[in-house]
Amino acid sequence: MAEFSLPKNSVVGKGKTVKAEGATNTRNFQVYRWNPDDGENPRMDTFEVDMDNCGPMVLDALIKIKNEMDSTVTFRRSCREGVCGSCAMNINGKNGLACTTAIEDAKGDVSITPLPHQEVVKDLVPDLSNFYAQYASIKPWMETQSPQPEKERLQSREDREKLDGLYECILCACCSTSCPSYWWNGDKYLGPAALLQAYRWLIDSRDENTGERLDNLEDPFRLYRCHTIMNCANACPKGLNPAKAIAEIKKMMVERKG
Ligand code: SF4
Ligand code: SF4
Ligand code: FES
Repeated sequence: MAEFSLPKNSVVGKGKTVKAEGATNTRNFQVYRWNPDDGENPRMDTFEVDMDNCGPMVLDALIKIKNEMDSTVTFRRSCREGVCGSCAMNINGKNGLACTTAIEDAKGDVSITPLPHQEVVKDLVPDLSNFYAQYASIKPWMETQSPQPEKERLQSREDREKLDGLYECILCACCSTSCPSYWWNGDKYLGPAALLQAYRWLIDSRDENTGERLDNLEDPFRLYRCHTIMNCANACPKGLNPAKAIAEIKKMMVERKG
């Protein structure tokens, strides 16, 4: 018999509240907490942050919370300038990068949860093993058959421009984890990030494995689960449009049959 209520141990409880003693200008940050080692349900802890002594971005607040209020709060970050993709998380219901999301643009209490529909490693850290395996499966490197030229393989300015809007992808997973098709079929559907990367190699004039790359995507699930819902383009913090790249791959599939 189908079970329609959430399993007991998945219900998110109310956690602790940590006050910013003596501060007069504060914002509340509600942070998802889950520790695989303590056997407890997930919870939302509330941290009152002194905004007079905090940087402007959501990542600044998280670092301040970890440094000054609770050192066990766990999240990923590296570059703090929107380049590495590590700090992707869900902020007030929208996927984005904590380091490029301004606190003043987030309304009310700032709720921070891990990227949706992924297993959680701890707190705000999602398990992206499947996401990375799918990326590897599209062979994100140049494949050639022709003999190695003496110098590098050249590309015209026009052909190089075809990679614009694709090469900028930082593999943050904001798009894939906002895609309903990926939520339901993430084990079989490659999702917008991997497909945008697949297209990046399909249209690279130097790559010589287009046929095999298309064969690898010719599958009812890997490519064709995209239903053009466009959440991916709305979520991308780099302003890219994976849905358009997916549509271009589908066009290539039709063209090679014609
Ligand atoms: S357009 Fe396709 S890839 Fe993008 S969110 Fe929708 S179903 Fe997912
Ligand atoms: S397309 Fe955008 S949202 Fe998706 S992984 Fe790349 S940078 Fe992130
Ligand atoms: S810390 Fe690198 S993208 Fe945010």
